[in-house]
Amino acid sequence: MKFGKHRHGLGRFRCAQCGKTYTEDHSRLFGGMILPEDKALLAIQLLLEGTSVRSTERITQLHRDTILRLLLLCVILFREQTMATAIKHVPIQNFVAELRKFPEATFDRTEQVRQFLQDTPLNPDSLAPYLTWDRQHYTRNLIDKTPLYELIAVCWEVGQASSVHNHRDQNCWMAVPSGRLLVENFHVAHQDIAGGKCAIKATEIVEMNPSHPCAVDPLAPVHRVLNPREFNQRAVSLHVYSRPFDSCVVYSAEQGTCGEIQLHYTTEYGKPVLS
Ligand SMILES: [Fe+2]
Repeated sequence: MKFGKHRHGLGRFRCAQCGKTYTEDHSRLFGGMILPEDKALLAIQLLLEGTSVRSTERITQLHRDTILRLLLLCVILFREQTMATAIKHVPIQNFVAELRKFPEATFDRTEQVRQFLQDTPLNPDSLAPYLTWDRQHYTRNLIDKTPLYELIAVCWEVGQASSVHNHRDQNCWMAVPSGRLLVENFHVAHQDIAGGKCAIKATEIVEMNPSHPCAVDPLAPVHRVLNPREFNQRAVSLHVYSRPFDSCVVYSAEQGTCGEIQLHYTTEYGKPVLS
């Protein structure tokens, strides 16, 4: 039941059974400030309309120091918001130009390229010339290739998934400029590639999206990528492989089998590959 007011104007309540009293949740809408949300909003509205701090203090019954702190917080939040919207999504041409600047040693470790992907969100519209879609299978579209790396855009229709595979001991980084994807990682307990037998077990699933690129762990490189039906949208992933490779091993956890396959591009530099 209601039980008066807290000194900050928040409602107090008392349990009818045990008699214990408590205060309604303090609003955290304004950082760490503890004050009623309606009063804070009213104060901001009054200040925006040109009301003086003294008048705002009288109308809202908030202390002037509280009003000034609120004002300062609004300025900080506005600046953060402005900076967030000012983050540049770079076109693929600039992305490639930056990637080509990295020295050879950069590709021998995973962190620097992963950080580059994190700090360099891609403008998905600039990928349009490279993207192809196939209802039967995801497509692999080559964007750039040097002796150090290859850069591929993979297009995933809703519900499509890769096989469980490795990367031939090469490093791999993935970003998702549009949509969302899951990466399911596997632990290989045993593999006999020549004999076609393996024992693998799923260990974890992580989500990739425009804010979360990832690097494949060189110590646990077996995984698959999927665009589950419940995500209900197409996705595009960008893959950096170093060094380039044109075959890999695919695994079946259910069958306990594995084997080498050749990899192909659907398009190269925006043009269909003739099969
Ligand atoms: Fe992969």
